[in-house]
Amino acid sequence: MTHRFDPDAHLLDLATVSRERMEVLLGRAEHYARGGTAPQALEGVAVCTLFFEPSTRTRLSFQLAAQRLGAHVLGFDVSTSSASKGETDLDTLRTLEAMGVRGFVVRHGREGAVRELAGRAGPRSALINAGDGRNAHPTQGLLDMLTLRQAKGTDLSGLKVLVVGDVRHSRVARSDLQGLRTLGVADIRVCAPPALLPGPEVLEGCQVVPVLDHALEGVDVVMLLRLQRERMEEGTVESLDAYHHAYGLDARRLALAAPGAVVMHPGPVNRGVEVTDEVADGPQSLILRQVANGVAVRMAVLEALLGGPQPPHGLA
Ligand code: NCD
Repeated sequence: MTHRFDPDAHLLDLATVSRERMEVLLGRAEHYARGGTAPQALEGVAVCTLFFEPSTRTRLSFQLAAQRLGAHVLGFDVSTSSASKGETDLDTLRTLEAMGVRGFVVRHGREGAVRELAGRAGPRSALINAGDGRNAHPTQGLLDMLTLRQAKGTDLSGLKVLVVGDVRHSRVARSDLQGLRTLGVADIRVCAPPALLPGPEVLEGCQVVPVLDHALEGVDVVMLLRLQRERMEEGTVESLDAYHHAYGLDARRLALAAPGAVVMHPGPVNRGVEVTDEVADGPQSLILRQVANGVAVRMAVLEALLGGPQPPHGLA
């Protein structure tokens, strides 16, 4: 099957999303976050969540988002599917395309895997990257931008934002940093143990501040990241206690930030490591707001990529 690869037919990362397109998606997501509905927007469309890595909130919120738009939703579980018999990712995609599935929400352990699949997908298919290795997690980036706009107003440009933790292994950080830059945030700080800092290409436009107490001074937003031990070589972090001591956010440290500063974390949270219970469950935490916004953002993305007139079923 040969056709021209149209990157706008998919959502693979935020690097290629213009500010204008991002604002449109966020505006639509805001509509859904306020309870707006479009129960027939994806009527007759089949969407499959293809997760080759574990997930709770991303997979379930995509499923809920697709259901709320009236789509047929299929879940693919690697452990009970033919992938466990060695079927390739591409054959899995083609098998589902042959059934008429058009929307594919894909999470994969390998960087670039979702882009590769998108390059081989049929012309009616839309792929959404739900996280590929440490590379990108664009809907998490968008839901974090939506959460920030709700908390701090639509113009984010004057905010001081601090990203703390395992930036090196984090696809969330890469997409968040991309989103912040695209929306004009000029003061972006990053604080991480030296072994968990990424390469300079990821840190473009950011100021690295090694000591958390210094980094926190006057910030409006603290974005925490999970320590991703599954992606670490042994010994990258000395001990969880030592990490918490140097980089964990507690109430004393949060008081160094600007009054009314907000705390975010994409989940899953390692309580007592990245953040104390008091802060995670406290009044400045937006962690559950992020989860709620995940459904709204995913509705907006699914609608943008799969809404509109339906092509006929059948193989091209
Ligand atoms: C993140 C992920 O899987 O990238 N989780 C999520 O989607 N909310 C973050 C993480 O696993 O640390």
